[in-house]
Amino acid sequence: MHLHMLVVLVLCSCTCGENPAIQIILNNKGLQYAKNTVTDWTQKILGNITLPDISGKVHIGFFGSIDYTLTGTSVRKCDLPQPSVEFSPGTTGVNASMLGLSVALTGEWKTHYGCIHDGGSFDMALFNVDVVSAVELGKNADGHLSITTVSCDAQVGYVDIYFRGGASWMFRPFVSHFRQRIRRKIESSICSHVEELTADLDYHLQTMNVSFDVDQALTMNLSLTGSPVIDVSSLNLGLKGEFFSIKTHSEPPFDAQPFTVPEQHGYMFSAGLSEFTLNSASYGLYSAGVLQALITDSMIPPDFPLHLNTSSMGPYIPQLPKMFPGLLMNLQVYATEVPMFSFQSGVVRLGFLGAVKAFAIQSNGTQTPLFKLSVISNLSSRAWVDSGRVKGQISLDNFTLTLMESEVGAFKITALEKCTRTGIEMGLAKLNEYLGKGVLLPRMKQAQLVNSVLKVEQGFIAIFSDAEVLK
Ligand SMILES: *[C@@H]1O[C@H](CO)[C@@H](O)[C@H](O)[C@H]1NC(C)=O
Ligand SMILES: *[C@@H]1O[C@H](CO)[C@@H](O)[C@H](O)[C@H]1NC(C)=O
Ligand SMILES: *[C@@H]1O[C@H](CO)[C@@H](O)[C@H](O)[C@H]1NC(C)=O
Ligand SMILES: *[C@@H]1O[C@H](CO)[C@@H](O)[C@H](O)[C@H]1NC(C)=O
Ligand SMILES: *[C@@H]1O[C@H](CO)[C@@H](O)[C@H](O)[C@H]1NC(C)=O
Ligand SMILES: *[C@@H]1O[C@H](CO)[C@@H](O)[C@H](O)[C@H]1NC(C)=O
Ligand SMILES: *[C@@H]1O[C@H](CO)[C@@H](O)[C@H](O)[C@H]1NC(C)=O
Ligand SMILES: *[C@@H]1O[C@H](CO)[C@@H](O)[C@H](O)[C@H]1NC(C)=O
Repeated sequence: MHLHMLVVLVLCSCTCGENPAIQIILNNKGLQYAKNTVTDWTQKILGNITLPDISGKVHIGFFGSIDYTLTGTSVRKCDLPQPSVEFSPGTTGVNASMLGLSVALTGEWKTHYGCIHDGGSFDMALFNVDVVSAVELGKNADGHLSITTVSCDAQVGYVDIYFRGGASWMFRPFVSHFRQRIRRKIESSICSHVEELTADLDYHLQTMNVSFDVDQALTMNLSLTGSPVIDVSSLNLGLKGEFFSIKTHSEPPFDAQPFTVPEQHGYMFSAGLSEFTLNSASYGLYSAGVLQALITDSMIPPDFPLHLNTSSMGPYIPQLPKMFPGLLMNLQVYATEVPMFSFQSGVVRLGFLGAVKAFAIQSNGTQTPLFKLSVISNLSSRAWVDSGRVKGQISLDNFTLTLMESEVGAFKITALEKCTRTGIEMGLAKLNEYLGKGVLLPRMKQAQLVNSVLKVEQGFIAIFSDAEVLK
């Protein structure tokens, strides 16, 4: 039959159909905030810039040609009009324009004719400078975001220049020559400056690590899964968002499912985190064999009714104190399957399937196996953001112990199960006290998140937030 087609479909769904597990969405509100920040910053640094020198020759009657240089040209006054910045779906990018900019400049002029040197100062004004530029966003082969200038057009409406000092009368007939030259020079230098800035930004994007080690066990891959998606009101970046074990680097046997972060244009940006991201971390830790713990008696609070000492196990396993009196015990706890998270509206659930092996520690150090239990445990948690902190609460929904093997004969598990459950709940109460205080949202040196909202949806967590640049 259509086996070929099937093969093509299957191959295609593996190679081209990688769903992003993390989505970052910049809304128009965020773009406009960024624009205002950049405009303020530009206004500040404009006062400090010095334009490149302009040199040339003018032909003055029988003197022949005189070499001149306009140097140290700096901005004296500049009123930045409000620029406009918008998403351009057609060109997968962002278009920016600034119309009607006027700048007052001042500088020095110098001439030399043979060995005669002369000089003075000048004032210059540029009127109606218009700059229109477009950049395109893309994804390069190794999953970095890329940015390139697709067009730039700068027009200087009118230039006026007034020379002072020295034999400045000499230049008066040539003012229109200077107007033309300066206009062309400035038009081309604005666009080459815009291209330079874009190339600079692109260089930074290319040198950013899209893959980095989180700790000794896990590495995170944040490369783009596809080209940026742009519509009139937002820019959406899809990131792989997958953890790998540094040791095994093996792919988990499950895939990221597609999800759509609801539109919230009232926030500067939105983000979505799929349950796949957490499950890939869980798989990475499981496959590296680090989801295990050794529990010793010293880890148990002194006032807790259960102690890892064979003599105090009487109420739970009556025969144990008789068979092995007065020995300390160890518990080896480990996951027997990958613990899986599932996000449902309002709740994050975690299922844990594991085993516990209990040993008695003989006085010569030998560990004698006593019994093995299987553990099925389900936790659920709620998370929210309150005054800049992520807070949460975890509860134990289900906890079942089953006796799998025993070297000490059969015993009833219910008392032990009840007591262990109480122990876990005490631990969770401590954890909830901490989670109730919350952890601060990630904060950068230059910016912080404000008005953040976190929602657990079916299969993903959505975060909506504004940002504030710190001055
Ligand atoms: C402008 O230059 C002055 C002196 O070099 C410096 O102190 C100031 O920080 C500069 N301002 C900006 C916004 O770069
Ligand atoms: C952005 O600029 C490009 C190139 O100049 C142009 O083709 C595109 O139509 C512009 N987009 C919008 C939304 O104006
Ligand atoms: C990027 O990763 C490399 C190798 O893991 C590391 O040496 C480097 O410091 C990282 N760079 C940044 C900016 O984190
Ligand atoms: C990250 O994922 C991308 C896309 O699957 C892949 O091409 C890239 O090699 C990965 N990077 C690392 C360091 O594993
Ligand atoms: C275990 O408990 C018994 C009775 O409380 C005590 O006598 C014994 O010293 C304990 N064993 C160890 C190794 O602490
Ligand atoms: C509890 O966890 C087990 C083991 O992971 C899982 O199979 C089961 O679906 C979970 N139950 C609930 C209600 O989440
Ligand atoms: C340690 O002591 C236990 C119990 O007394 C005994 O069965 C075992 O053979 C001893 N092991 C060694 C290595 O001496
Ligand atoms: C807890 O686990 C038991 C045994 O697997 C099951 O019968 C029960 O329905 C579970 N309860 C919940 C709330 O998941």
